[in-house]
This record gives sequence, structure tokens and C-alpha cells, in this order.
Amino acid sequence: MLPRTPLHRWLAVAFFVLVIVWYHPNFSGSSIGDSSSTTGFSGNGVDDLTYVRKLLKDNKIGPEIEYAARTIRYVPDATQRKSITEVNQNLFPQSFKNITISKNQNLPSSRLLDIHVKHSPRPDQVDASDLIFGVSTTYDRFTNEGTSPMKEWVRWLTDGNGRTNGAGLILALFNTTEENLGNAAKTLESVGINATVVPSNLELDMPGRYVDLVHMLYNHPTRNSRKYFVLIDDDTFFPYMNEFRNTLRQYDPTKPYYIGTFTERVDWILQNGAPFAYGGGGIVLTEPACQKIVSLPCLEKKEDGSYVLASDQGDRLLFNCLREHTDITLTYLPSLHQEDQFGDPSGFYESGIQPLSLHHYKSWHHFNPDRMHVVADACGESCVLQRFQFLDNYIITNGFSVVHYPQGIDFDPLQVEGTFGSGNDGNPLLHETVFSYSFGQLRKSMNHTGKKKGWELLGAKKEGDGRVKQVYVKRRGEGRWLAEGEDAPLRDSIVVLTWIP
Ligand SMILES: *[C@@H]1O[C@H](CO)[C@@H](O)[C@H](O)[C@H]1NC(C)=O
Ligand SMILES: *[C@@H]1O[C@H](CO)[C@@H](O)[C@H](O)[C@H]1NC(C)=O
Ligand SMILES: *[C@@H]1O[C@H](CO)[C@@H](O)[C@H](O)[C@H]1NC(C)=O
Ligand SMILES: *[C@@H]1O[C@H](CO)[C@@H](O)[C@H](O)[C@H]1NC(C)=O
Repeated sequence: MLPRTPLHRWLAVAFFVLVIVWYHPNFSGSSIGDSSSTTGFSGNGVDDLTYVRKLLKDNKIGPEIEYAARTIRYVPDATQRKSITEVNQNLFPQSFKNITISKNQNLPSSRLLDIHVKHSPRPDQVDASDLIFGVSTTYDRFTNEGTSPMKEWVRWLTDGNGRTNGAGLILALFNTTEENLGNAAKTLESVGINATVVPSNLELDMPGRYVDLVHMLYNHPTRNSRKYFVLIDDDTFFPYMNEFRNTLRQYDPTKPYYIGTFTERVDWILQNGAPFAYGGGGIVLTEPACQKIVSLPCLEKKEDGSYVLASDQGDRLLFNCLREHTDITLTYLPSLHQEDQFGDPSGFYESGIQPLSLHHYKSWHHFNPDRMHVVADACGESCVLQRFQFLDNYIITNGFSVVHYPQGIDFDPLQVEGTFGSGNDGNPLLHETVFSYSFGQLRKSMNHTGKKKGWELLGAKKEGDGRVKQVYVKRRGEGRWLAEGEDAPLRDSIVVLTWIP
């Protein structure tokens, strides 16, 4: 029953409702209908401007740019993570606009798009406490801007909010002062990485220090709570910690296991002539395997100072020791990646695979896996490097690139594009075939054909709970995207993707 209310109260309520509707046009306007493509979504204009503008300025891009944006709502109801997911819509129904980033008060608003992804945990939902990692490096490499692994370690050893994800880390530093050991420990603690920093044995050379890591892992006080003991390099990255653990679960931790991957290069496999786990992709041992190794004379030397087990590489020395003294053989896990290719890595990262480890991204090729990985804070880890193909011939490789194929997608996107090389240009035959055992037949690089225009990830930022903004750039001077004789564009081009729940 309605209470008795004087008429003027009802009028006031009606006026109040009118005011709300007036100031929130989205209430009354465009929210009905096909929400996946036509809803106007005016993101968070002020914040957009601040982050994007600063990022472009820091990278000396603009102020005159070409610009397009899309807000993507991820719906975690897909049954699987496909290599490529077809989306029955255009990515950019509105064309690119010319703007002056320093002048525009608000960026052109970006429309909402729904994308279906498989549910997977974000970094703060991963419990990695049954894993412990061991790495040996120098204080110089640990602190030097060009080589420091800190940004990357934060992504896969913490929950992204300054707390550990439970994984342990033993950092062995070579020839370092007590003071620097303390500094390293403080640095790691300050970001939430649960690390034990120790000096490595000064008596040992590099391969010796590598094998010695097994002793450190085995003797760590947390041994009984760990299931897998992982040797890594200081440039090994694990993009899918949850999937990594799921994959390891099939190997009984109470049995001796030695798990790893080969180089992607068949020429090196033949040259090395031994089925050993290559260290850069990560080598996983179970406790019984560690226990066995620490009991063996792996580091025994001859009078001339060389190893009895003859190797100048740590990963090979470990294998030689297992082969000589045990019946443990390699369990090959090809989803770990050594990444022994050189040059432009885009063919690998744009291939739709879910590599459980990455390597060599600061040396043989250049790439920022920490930046790539930020989007895991939104749509979950399995979204990272996932591909989405649109009707207007765009493919997003989430965290790596947005690519337009202006003449259509007339190739097989399940084939890896051969953008990279073997670093062995003297022998072109070798060049074509060395990777085929690992990647299958490569398709031709679209370098300099004008058929591929790529925007590569420039920056990514978590903006709130489950919200991540990515900024991709196609630089006007980039020759890879131009056909012979094609004029370079006059402006740098920017794509902004905002991922929202
Ligand atoms: C943007 O500006 C460039 C010149 O800087 C011009 O060539 C291009 O056609 C313009 N694009 C649009 C969509 O106006
Ligand atoms: C340790 O470092 C010092 C200088 O920092 C150097 O003189 C010495 O040779 C190094 N020792 C080894 C074993 O590399
Ligand atoms: C870090 O690991 C140690 C064991 O090495 C454990 O005692 C401690 O509780 C851990 N710290 C955090 C913050 O989880
Ligand atoms: C692509 O082009 C660049 C020069 O812009 C060149 O250095 C590279 O070798 C090319 N890659 C391939 C696979 O042709």
C-alpha cells in the first residue's frame, strides 16, 4: 500500500529521477540492443589521457598521431584456449583518427566489444608454493639495467601486489661482497619475492656453479614442502605459472624426474649429439632426482683441471653426470622454450602457442615479457599471447601485437611466420630448415611485402580490479611494413586496448 504522501513530495522525487537521467545519458540511451558492438563506451577519458600521453612522450612519439581504441570485455566462458579465436565483428568499425595527443582533452571514445576466453587464474590467484627455483648469476647482471631480471621476476614470483605467490627462489651470486648480497636480498624482499640470496662457491667455474645449484635447492630448509626443483637462467620467464604447475602434476614428485626441453635448432641438436635438457628453458627435477645428483661425483676434475665428465656447459655437465651414473633419462617437455632463434621474434610470439617458458629475450632477440604479461591481471594468464581474428583482417596477439593484413588473411595462421633467423647467414639452406623440427614448416616472412602492418606493445598498465590498458604503436619509420617503393606513413599510429571484466 502506498503511504500517504503529499503531492509535492512526489513531484520532488520525479524531479530527482529526471536529474539523474539527464546527467547519465548512458542510463537512457544506447545500452539496449547488441551490447557487444554498438554500445558507446566512454572509458575513463581523463585517466586515458594521462597514461597514454606520458607513455608516448617518454617514447618520443607524437604529438601528431593516428589513433584508434577499443574497450574489450572478456567473458570467461570459452571451453578452451584456441590457437586463434575468430570474432564475428570488426575490430575497428570506426576508422583511425588523426589527433594531436598534447591538445585533445579527451581521446575519441572507444566502443565496447565482447570476447570469449577460457577462465584462468590471475597472478594473485596462483599458489606456487610447491616450486622452488635456483639461479646463478653475478651482482652486476642482477643490478644492471640491461640485464636485471627484477621486473620479470615480479610477474611470475609474486601475486602482482607485492606479496609472494609462494614460490621459492635461490639466487646464487658469484664473487660478491657481503654488502651486495644484503642489497640483493633487500631488493627482492621489497617487491615480495621470497628469495634466499647466497654466495656461489668461489672455487667453482660456471658449469660447476650450475650443477652446485642442485645442492642448494636440495638443502634448502623448505625442501619438504616443495615438489619440483627448477634450474633457470637469469633470463628465463614463466608466463603461465598455473599451467606450468598443472603440466608438472603429471610427473610423480616422489619418483626421480629430469624434465626439460631441447634447443629449437636441429643443427645444434646434431652437433651436440646428446639428448640433454637445455638450461635456458628451465630444467625441472624432483626430490629423488636431486637427492641422487647430490650424491654423485658430477664435479670431479682431472689433473689438467677439466671435468672428468667433459663439458664446459652446466646443463650438459648435469646430463653427462646423470647418464654416466644413473639410469635417469630426459623427460622431454617441448612447451618449455629455449628460444635459440635470432632477430625479429614476432613469428614465434604471434604463433598462438602457449609457451610455458621464454628465454633469450634480452640478448638474441629483444622483447619485454613483463609488459606482455600485465594483461594476465585482467583476463587471466591463459589470455597472454592468445590470438583473436576479426572480420576486418586484424589479428590481436594479446600482449604482443595488433596486426592488420590489408590484402586479407590468405595464409594459414596456424603456420609460424619465419620472421626470425638462425644467425647463420653463411648457409641459407640451413637457415630454412633448422627450426622445422620444432615449429613445423614455416610460412614466408611478410617483411617488406606491404601485406602486414603491425602495432607492437609499447606499454601496459593495470588500471583497477581486472582492468588493464595496453598501448600499441606502429612507428612511421618502420620499414618492415612497407612494400618496395611504398611511401612511409607521415604519422606514428597508436592503438589503445582496454580490457575490462
Ligand atoms: C592523417 O594525417 C596524415 C598527414 O599527417 C594524412 O596523410 C592522412 O590522410 C590523415 N588521415 C586521416 C584519417 O585524416
Ligand atoms: C672477484 O672480483 C674481484 C674484483 O671485484 C677480482 O679482482 C677477482 O679476480 C674476482 N675473482 C674471480 C674468481 O673472478
Ligand atoms: C619465505 O620463505 C621462508 C622459508 O624460506 C618462510 O619461512 C617464510 O614464511 C616465507 N615468507 C613469506 C612472506 O611467505
Ligand atoms: C626483415 O627486414 C629486416 C630489415 O628491415 C632485415 O634485417 C631482416 O633480416 C628481414 N627478415 C627476414 C626474415 O627477411
